[in-house]
This record gives sequence, C-alpha cells and structure tokens, in this order.
Amino acid sequence: MQLEITGLTKRFGSFTANDRIDLTIEPGEIHCLLGENGAGKSTLMNMLYGLLDPDEGEVLIDGKPTTFATPGDAIKAGIGMVHQHFMLVPVFTVAENVMLGREQTRGLGLLNRPAAAKLVRDLSDRYKLAVDPDALVQDLPVGVQQRVEILKALANNAEVLILDEPTAVLTPQEIDELMSIMDSLRESGTSIVFITHKLREVKEIGDRITVIRRGKVVGTTQPTASESQLAEMMVGRGVKLVVDKDPADAGDAVLEISHLTVIDGRGATVVKDVSLDVRAGEILVLAGVQGNGQTELIKAILGLMKPAAGQISLAGRNITKHGPRQRLDDGIGYI
Ligand SMILES: Nc1ncnc2c1ncn2[C@@H]1O[C@H](COP(=O)(O)OP(=O)(O)OP(=O)(O)O)[C@@H](O)[C@H]1O
Ligand SMILES: [Mg+2]
Repeated sequence: MQLEITGLTKRFGSFTANDRIDLTIEPGEIHCLLGENGAGKSTLMNMLYGLLDPDEGEVLIDGKPTTFATPGDAIKAGIGMVHQHFMLVPVFTVAENVMLGREQTRGLGLLNRPAAAKLVRDLSDRYKLAVDPDALVQDLPVGVQQRVEILKALANNAEVLILDEPTAVLTPQEIDELMSIMDSLRESGTSIVFITHKLREVKEIGDRITVIRRGKVVGTTQPTASESQLAEMMVGRGVKLVVDKDPADAGDAVLEISHLTVIDGRGATVVKDVSLDVRAGEILVLAGVQGNGQTELIKAILGLMKPAAGQISLAGRNITKHGPRQRLDDGIGYI
C-alpha cells in the first residue's frame, strides 16, 4: 500500500510541532525519518496512528483520503506502530500479548492459547523473528520484547510499520539483528517508517530519507548522501563530526566510587560492584544502553538511592552516608 501525507499540521497551543508536512511512503520501502530531538517525528507518527488529531492536512491510502479517530482505525487500515516506550504487559506471555492487540481491534473475546501460540510461531517463522510464544515478556531482554511488539503489529496485518527510535534501547548486536529483521520485512513487501537520529543506521538500511527540522520537512534524500550532508540537513548548519581537542590535563581523583552495589525496590541488583574515579579537570563518559544501571548509579551518587554496599568519596571524604541535600552542599551538582 502507498501512504501519502499532504500538508499535515499539528499545533500545541501557539507552538507548531508539525508544519504542513508532505511525505510519501511507497510500498515495500524503508523510509527513514531523520531529525533532532524535538523535531516533530513522534508527533507526525502519532497522527498517522490515530493518537493525535491533525489540525490541517490529509492522509491518503492508495490515493484515498482517510482519517483515523483511534489507533484501532489505523490498525484496520494496515498501519502498525512500535512506540519509543513499549506497551507490552510484562506478566503476560508473548502469545498473550500478541493476541491482546488483536482482541482490542477485533473483539475476539476469550483467548485461544494454542491458536495464539501457533500464530506467533507462524509469524516468527515467516519473518525470521525468533521468539518463544510461551515466554513471559518480563523475562525477555529488551531486544526480544521489541520483536514481540513487531509481531503484534504483523499479527494485525500491518502493511506499513512505524518504528519510533527502535535502536535507542538496543545493544550494537541487537541493532544488527533488528536491521536484518527490517530487511526481511521489506522483502515480504512491508513498508517501514524508521525513526532515528543515528546517521550510520539511516545510511545502512534506508531506501529514502526524509529530514525534519523544527516541524518542517527539509528534504528527502538518498542513503548515498554523506553523513555530513545529512547532519547539515538535520541541524541547519555545517557540523563537525570529528571534534579537535587537546588531551585532558587531569589532576587527582575528586570523586571516588569503590565497589558500589545498588539494589532497587524490586530487589534487583541494578549496580553491581562498580568502581570508578573522576579526576579534577576531566570529563568522564558513562556509556551504556538504557536500563543497564546508569540512572541508579547517578541516583546513588546524588544520595537518592541508598547503596547496599560500597563507598562514595568526594575530595577524600567519605560521603556515603550523606543525604541528597548535604551532597549538594558537599559540592555535587546535577543537571
Ligand atoms: N502533547 C504535547 N503538548 C505540547 N507540546 C508537545 C506535545 N507533544 C510534543 N510536543 C512538542 O512538540 C515538539 C516535537 O515533539 P516530538 O515528540 O514530535 O519530537 P521528536 O522529533 O519525536 O523528538 P525525540 O527525538 O525527542 O523523540 C517538541 O518540542 C515537544 O516538546
Ligand atoms: Mg520522538
């Protein structure tokens, strides 16, 4: 199916989040939507999925004007969406989650477990999306949960699949797996709208790329465009992709974290025996995929979570027992 958007506009009060957007998704293409944070990508897709009402403009399916009052309408029309934050029920199995989406849209009533498991197996075979229909969603790694979301959309016969920043929560290996899933979906004729702000991914998998900046379409281009051309379209000026910098001239350790362990409210060990130093005059980067304990580590440094073990020292003083207010006075700032 061909999906065409013309002049789509969305305002929030006096702020125009989407300004007369034109975009065409051709059958079987991977169309990348590239834009900085806040450019208006999710707003546009939420209108396509019946979650937001456009103020102006039209959506056409195979040339026919269509309106979606609810996601149910969009699903019936063949549109599927995997949101930035997943919407699965953690205590349900994969098959139950997939059927739940169908029940909402088709009123199937009672869950037929063997049929659900078979549907999941058929779909996962057809699209090479390996998942166990009987696994509980809460036991699955994030990358597999994402596959369940994709399966849910495919179970509703999605012909256009919207993936809103699917790679933000994935490890590099999971990203490669998602790319090959996207590839086999394209081969089977499904169109994909792939939202991201990572240039490498767009160049690797995209057929066409539309760039959005401050709610407006800047242009549509090919994956052969260079990273610096794409970056310039995204931000509106030349961007240096490599930073020239002098080596840091770091002094003594100011913040010392040793053998820190943090256990969260559900009893999970979210920070496990972490030790690191931050020296005077240096920028230390914590790299990791969302959900791997960065937030909890920062909370422990701020005194918002109590560590189960380990020590935090600032300028040589043990501050492990200090509360958040006292830590600000100790000299820790947080933005
Ligand atoms: N419900 C809302 N009410 C008011 N403003 C909103 C609403 N939803 C989005 N916005 C604003 O519209 C702009 C576009 O937001 P949107 O979420 O579409 O951006 P995005 O391109 O998806 O960004 P990100 O990369 O952060 O996901 C932002 O400035 C945002 O603050
Ligand atoms: Mg978004």
